[in-house]
Amino acid sequence: MKQATLFKVVLVGVLACVSALLVGAEDRYLYFTWEVTYGTVYPLGFAQQGILINGQFPGPTLDAITNDNILVNVINKLDEPFLITWNGIKQRRTSWEDGVLGTNCPIPPNTNWTYKFQVKDQIGTYNYFPSTKLQRVAGGFGAFNIAQRSVISIPYPAPAAEFTILVSDWYNTNHKLLSQRLDAGVPLPFPIALLINGQQSTSVFTAQQGKTYKFRVSNVGIATCINLRIQGHSLKVIEVEGSHTIQEVYESFDVHVGQSVAFLVTLNGSPKDYYIVASSRFSRKNLTAIATLRYEGSNSKASGPLPPPPSFQLHGSMKQARTIRLNLTANAARPNPQGSFHYGTIKITRTIILENSEARINGKRRYAVNGISHVNPETPLKLADWFGISGVFDLNIIKDVPPPSGTPAKQGASVIGLVLHDFIEIVFQNNENALQSWHMDGSSFYVVGAIMVALDNKGMWNLRSAIWGRQYLGQELYLMVDNGERSILTETNIPSNALLCGKAKAHN
Ligand SMILES: *[C@@H]1O[C@H](CO)[C@@H](O)[C@H](O)[C@H]1NC(C)=O
Ligand SMILES: *[C@@H]1O[C@H](CO)[C@@H](O)[C@H](O)[C@H]1NC(C)=O
Ligand SMILES: *[C@@H]1O[C@H](CO)[C@@H](O)[C@H](O)[C@H]1NC(C)=O
Repeated sequence: MKQATLFKVVLVGVLACVSALLVGAEDRYLYFTWEVTYGTVYPLGFAQQGILINGQFPGPTLDAITNDNILVNVINKLDEPFLITWNGIKQRRTSWEDGVLGTNCPIPPNTNWTYKFQVKDQIGTYNYFPSTKLQRVAGGFGAFNIAQRSVISIPYPAPAAEFTILVSDWYNTNHKLLSQRLDAGVPLPFPIALLINGQQSTSVFTAQQGKTYKFRVSNVGIATCINLRIQGHSLKVIEVEGSHTIQEVYESFDVHVGQSVAFLVTLNGSPKDYYIVASSRFSRKNLTAIATLRYEGSNSKASGPLPPPPSFQLHGSMKQARTIRLNLTANAARPNPQGSFHYGTIKITRTIILENSEARINGKRRYAVNGISHVNPETPLKLADWFGISGVFDLNIIKDVPPPSGTPAKQGASVIGLVLHDFIEIVFQNNENALQSWHMDGSSFYVVGAIMVALDNKGMWNLRSAIWGRQYLGQELYLMVDNGERSILTETNIPSNALLCGKAKAHN
């Protein structure tokens, strides 16, 4: 699958010189061809339709090293338009490759399109998934791991090996029927199962007694916060969403929707099998997925009660989230400490308060942010901005503060205009009785309350609910980070292969 023919390297090398300041010509190129199809999967032991990449469910793990250039030729064999988004990958200076409907025209059925981006100055555990429609409930997701370059030291001893755990929620209804339901204003049903790497109970991780392993865990589900634990073993957190953390040890760990965490696990038990458990948190039903940690040479199956979940309180989970702290003196992707940025002393130029709400518009359930329920225009926002196409979006629709309570929500293309290099504060205000999980493209973080963002990445960036039924019905917006000039020093040109749709078609 990974293939780097000399011809391609030379060709791309030439292109790279044109923008030599942007792409280090010495960095590796990784080429992937991914065919996306429907296929039969058996996560619960009976046949269901899934979305496969190169025949795999979950999709292939993308293993990269900091600064690799990644080219993924995605061949869409579904009967619906398709895009993949790279969750947590910063896409420096190039929101063109972000793979969401505000930046990209979707890849039509039976065509292909090649993503080209560099994982510049990134290290850590991420994932990818389909951003279009509700396809991700059926698959198309996978792990995206970025290892450190050999010159960078990491703040823990090299593990004996790495394992990937993707936890997802699973439905017994086809993704198209689920979208029709949402379109009709009916909430999604409760998932019927949780899966670990596409299986409810049969994934096995085999490892050696006495050694320490890295487990990279992503919650790629669409609705369910999960708790992860391993019978008889503790979890030492080493990295969350690309930042090295203070290495605290936990009995079990909550991984919120969209979140990625890496743990070290030392095999200090007797040589047998142990349960790995992912169970739902704060939900009406208790769903559980089980995998096996098998000591090499083990001949006894995991037994005894499953390790118990933590107590139900939301408070405990919030408290745990607050124990995640960056190790400010550890290396980041580059050999400078993660704490070299003095957040506390930088002047905040703008505070934006974003309030999520459930709304009824035209008699149907929608979700809104500051009273605007986002609808993607047929012309991607990024293309409209680049080509100067008017009438696609308007920066005055969404305001920096929520509207007075009682103001009816409305639909629109929700874009906040921001100035490159400003330092802003975003406060997430949740007056609903529902747990929220937010994701911001172009930079990545786990949100407990408010965030400070250094706007160092020009482009059109999606800020969305990671709870997909909410995102689908409008709980998202775009942050347009701009500086009023066109220069490849601050943003790459539109890729030569960019798909053009809507009003942008005229610019072919
Ligand atoms: C589609 O795939 C072909 C064959 O691999 C490739 O040559 C072409 O560049 C791809 N098209 C796009 C738009 O990526
Ligand atoms: C933070 O990282 C440094 C540098 O690698 C390491 O020496 C130190 O032990 C780490 N601190 C904690 C609390 O994990
Ligand atoms: C789910 O499990 C939790 C923790 O064990 C328990 O408090 C809660 O009552 C259970 N809920 C249901 C619906 O079974």
